[in-house]
Amino acid sequence: MEQLVDVLLVLALFSYTTWAVKGSLHCKQTNSGKIRPHSVTITEFGAVGDGVTLNTKAFQNAIFYLNSFADKGGAKLFVPAGRWLTGSFDLISHLTLWLDKDAVILGSMNSDDWPVVDPLPSYGRGRELPGGRHRSLIYGRNLTDVIITGDNGTIDGQGSIWWNWFRSETLNYTRPHLVELMNSTGVIISNLTFLNSPFWTIHPVYCSHVRVQNVTILAPLDSPNTDGIDPDSSDDVCIEDCYISTGDDLIAIKSGWDEYGIAYGRPSRNISIRGLTGHNRNGSGIAFGSEMSGGVSEIHAENIYFFNTSTAIKFKTARGRGGYVRNIHISNVTLSDVDIAIRFEGNFSQHPDEFYDPNALPVIERITFKDVIGDNIKVAGLLKGIEGDSFLGILILVVSQRNSPSPRQGYDARHKKLSGVADMLLLTCEIVLRDCFL
Ligand SMILES: *[C@@H]1O[C@H](CO)[C@@H](O)[C@H](O)[C@H]1NC(C)=O
Ligand SMILES: *[C@@H]1O[C@H](CO)[C@@H](O)[C@H](O)[C@H]1NC(C)=O
Ligand SMILES: *[C@@H]1O[C@H](CO)[C@@H](O)[C@H](O)[C@H]1NC(C)=O
Ligand SMILES: *[C@@H]1O[C@H](CO)[C@@H](O)[C@H](O)[C@H]1NC(C)=O
Ligand SMILES: *[C@@H]1O[C@H](CO)[C@@H](O)[C@H](O)[C@H]1NC(C)=O
Ligand SMILES: *[C@@H]1O[C@H](CO)[C@@H](O)[C@H](O)[C@H]1NC(C)=O
Ligand SMILES: *[C@@H]1O[C@H](CO)[C@@H](O)[C@H](O)[C@H]1NC(C)=O
Ligand SMILES: *[C@@H]1O[C@H](CO)[C@@H](O)[C@H](O)[C@H]1NC(C)=O
Ligand SMILES: *[C@@H]1O[C@H](CO)[C@@H](O)[C@H](O)[C@H]1NC(C)=O
Ligand SMILES: *[C@@H]1O[C@H](CO)[C@@H](O)[C@H](O)[C@H]1NC(C)=O
Ligand SMILES: *[C@@H]1O[C@H](CO)[C@@H](O)[C@H](O)[C@H]1NC(C)=O
Repeated sequence: MEQLVDVLLVLALFSYTTWAVKGSLHCKQTNSGKIRPHSVTITEFGAVGDGVTLNTKAFQNAIFYLNSFADKGGAKLFVPAGRWLTGSFDLISHLTLWLDKDAVILGSMNSDDWPVVDPLPSYGRGRELPGGRHRSLIYGRNLTDVIITGDNGTIDGQGSIWWNWFRSETLNYTRPHLVELMNSTGVIISNLTFLNSPFWTIHPVYCSHVRVQNVTILAPLDSPNTDGIDPDSSDDVCIEDCYISTGDDLIAIKSGWDEYGIAYGRPSRNISIRGLTGHNRNGSGIAFGSEMSGGVSEIHAENIYFFNTSTAIKFKTARGRGGYVRNIHISNVTLSDVDIAIRFEGNFSQHPDEFYDPNALPVIERITFKDVIGDNIKVAGLLKGIEGDSFLGILILVVSQRNSPSPRQGYDARHKKLSGVADMLLLTCEIVLRDCFL
C-alpha cells in the first residue's frame, strides 16, 4: 500500500495545477434589501398569531393578492411578531417574505396540511418511499426573484411528529422539506433561523442563482435526515456565513439518483460555501452525494469550522450512480473533536429500485483539500473506493493535527480500512506540519 501511494503522488500533482482556482468567493451582493413597492401584513388577511389558529388560507390569500403586483416591481409579505401556524403554501415571483424579529412560522402537525406532490424526475420516486412526497412548508416552483428574509425571525417545522412517523414506519409518503424551491432563479434566503425540519431543511432543486446567507439552522442531533442545506441539480449557488447543527449532513450537494438522475442529467455546478460553522453527530459537515448521478463540479468551500462532528468532509457514492464529482476545492478547514476528517465511501448502497445499472460507475476526480487542521481528530482519512473504478487526483495538501493524544491512531485506522480498496488513486500529505495523518 505504501508503494501505491508513492507512485500516485506524482500523477495527482501533475493534474493539480491545471484546474485549481483561486480568488475570493464572496457571494455577489444582489439586492436582498430590494424595496418592493407594495407591502401587506399577514394579519390583513385574517391571520392570528396565537400558535393555534391554522393560517394556511391567510398565507395563500395574501400571496394570491400580491401576485397582481408581480409585474409592478413585486411585493412584500410582512410577518410580524407572533406564532403563525400554517400548512404548506406556495411562493410567487418577485416576492419578499419578511419575518420580523420574534415572528415564528410554525409548521402544522397534521400531515394533511402538507399535500402530496409528484416525485422529482431526477429521483424517480420519493427519497424515502416509492410514489409522491409531501410538499415542503414553504414551496416555490418556476419562480424568479424570490427573497425569504427578515430580522432573525424563525421558521419552525415542528418536525418531531414526522421523525416519530419515520421511526414508527407509519409514513405514507416521503417526508417534506422545510423550504423547497424548484426550477427557480434569483433566490435569496437570509438573516433567519430555521428549526426542526421534518426532513432536509433548505432544498433548492433545478435552481440557478441561489444565495443562502447568514442563516442559523438547528435540529436535534438525533433527528433523522434533517440535513441543513442541500443544493440539488442547481448551479451558481452561494452559501455564506451560516451556522448549522442538525441530525444529518450540514450541507449536502446532490444531483439525482441512479438511472433517474443520469437520465435527467442536470448537474450541480459552481457552488461556493464560505464561512460555515457547525456540528452534528450523525452525518457530515459537507457531503457530496450520495445522490450525484447528474454530476457535481466546480465546488469551492473555505473558512469552515466544525466541532464535535462525526465526519467533516464526505464523498458518498455507489455502483449504479454514474455521474461525476470533479473540480472540488476545499481549504482552510478547522476541526475540533471530529471522528473522521475526510472520508470517501464508494458503497453508499441505497438505490431507488433494482433497475439501476451496476456498470454505471461514478467518476471522482480532481479533489483538493488544503489547510485542514484540527484538534482531536480520531481518523484523518478513511477512503473506500469501488472495485474496478478509479478515484483520480485526490490531493491533500496539508492535514495536520494539534494536541493529539495518540498520533498514530489515524494512520493505523486508515490502513485497516484501506484493505480491499480497488484501484483508488490517492495522494497523501505533501507537506507535513507536525504529524500527517493520512
Ligand atoms: C421551469 O420554469 C420555466 C419558467 O417558468 C418554464 O418555462 C419551464 O417549463 C419550467 N421547467 C420545469 C421542468 O418545471
Ligand atoms: C412549472 O412548469 C412546468 C413545466 O412547464 C409545468 O408543468 C408546471 O405546471 C409549472 N408549475 C407551476 C407551479 O407553475
Ligand atoms: C445576520 O442576521 C442578523 C439578524 O438575523 C443581523 O442582525 C446581522 O446584521 C446579520 N449579519 C450580516 C453580516 O448580515
Ligand atoms: C437568531 O436566533 C437564533 C435562535 O433564536 C439564535 O441562536 C441566533 O444567535 C440569532 N442570530 C442573531 C444574529 O441574532
Ligand atoms: C397514512 O395513511 C393512513 C390511512 O389513510 C392514515 O390514517 C395515516 O394518518 C397516514 N399517516 C400519515 C403520517 O400521514
Ligand atoms: C442581513 O441583515 C443585515 C442587517 O439588517 C443587512 O445589512 C444585510 O443586507 C442582510 N443581508 C441579507 C443577505 O439579507
Ligand atoms: C445515523 O443515521 C443512520 C442513517 O440514517 C441511522 O441508521 C442511525 O440510526 C443514526 N444513528 C444515530 C445515533 O442517530
Ligand atoms: C458562479 O456563481 C456565482 C453566483 O454564486 C456567479 O456570480 C458567477 O458568475 C458564477 N460563475 C460562473 C463561472 O458561472
Ligand atoms: C480561515 O477560516 C476561519 C474561520 O473558520 C477564519 O476566521 C480565518 O480568517 C480564515 N483564514 C484565512 C486565511 O482566510
Ligand atoms: C459533543 O456532543 C456530545 C453528544 O453528541 C455532547 O454530549 C457534548 O456536550 C458535546 N460537546 C461540545 C463541546 O459541544
Ligand atoms: C456494499 O454494501 C452492501 C449493503 O450494505 C453490502 O451488502 C455489500 O457487501 C457491500 N459491498 C462491498 C463491496 O463492500
